[in-house]
Amino acid sequence: MFLSELIKKSRCHRKFYQSFDIDYGILWDIVISLRYISSAKNLQPLKYIISTDREKNREIFPTLKWAGYLKDWDGPQEGEKPSAYIVILKDSDIADDAFVLTDAGIAIQTIMLSLSELELGGCTIAAIDKKKLSKVFSLPDNLEILYVMAVGKPKDRITITEVNDSIKYFRDGYGNHYVPKRAIEDLLYRIYR
Ligand SMILES: Cc1cc2nc3c(=O)[nH]c(=O)nc-3n(C[C@H](O)[C@H](O)[C@H](O)COP(=O)(O)O)c2cc1C
Repeated sequence: MFLSELIKKSRCHRKFYQSFDIDYGILWDIVISLRYISSAKNLQPLKYIISTDREKNREIFPTLKWAGYLKDWDGPQEGEKPSAYIVILKDSDIADDAFVLTDAGIAIQTIMLSLSELELGGCTIAAIDKKKLSKVFSLPDNLEILYVMAVGKPKDRITITEVNDSIKYFRDGYGNHYVPKRAIEDLLYRIYR
């Protein structure tokens, strides 16, 4: 598949086939890819936790907040929860500046594209009860949770739409999820040719 197609396919999924087991080796391989991503000053301050363990996943899930725009939806129900997680951590002993989040963005997209290539799906979660989740992992003070990547076999149907009056994602009465994306004319500020 061309990279442009993979990018289009790489949506934030919030419903999964929970019974679909993900081998930890898949996440291990993704973290191997993350060794090679760009890093400001090549400091490589990011660290990762992977979990495919059902018991650990049960502890991670309640610390996450899903789909802030969907006020009448509390997140994936039992049976539709992620099968795995990749937690992105910052090691503040290595770096603690704004570039760490840039590194994290590169890691996020690398994870998302890797999952899409494998016919899996993910969702980046920033709305995390970090205090609670740090306790789940007994993290030392220098390791701060930045993002949680939920991982699973996608079950939701997602369609890209044009932005009319709002960029807020929405669902129709059948549970189909729509994500408005701005037009190319709104992104390309200027062209010199
Ligand atoms: C940095 C970042 C943080 C996000 N945090 C959350 C979150 O806390 N909860 C959530 O449900 N989705 C979260 N998302 C997913 C976005 O809502 C999603 O990317 C957006 O709706 C566009 O959908 P798409 O990824 O399918 O294009 C986050 C995405 C990014 C990139």
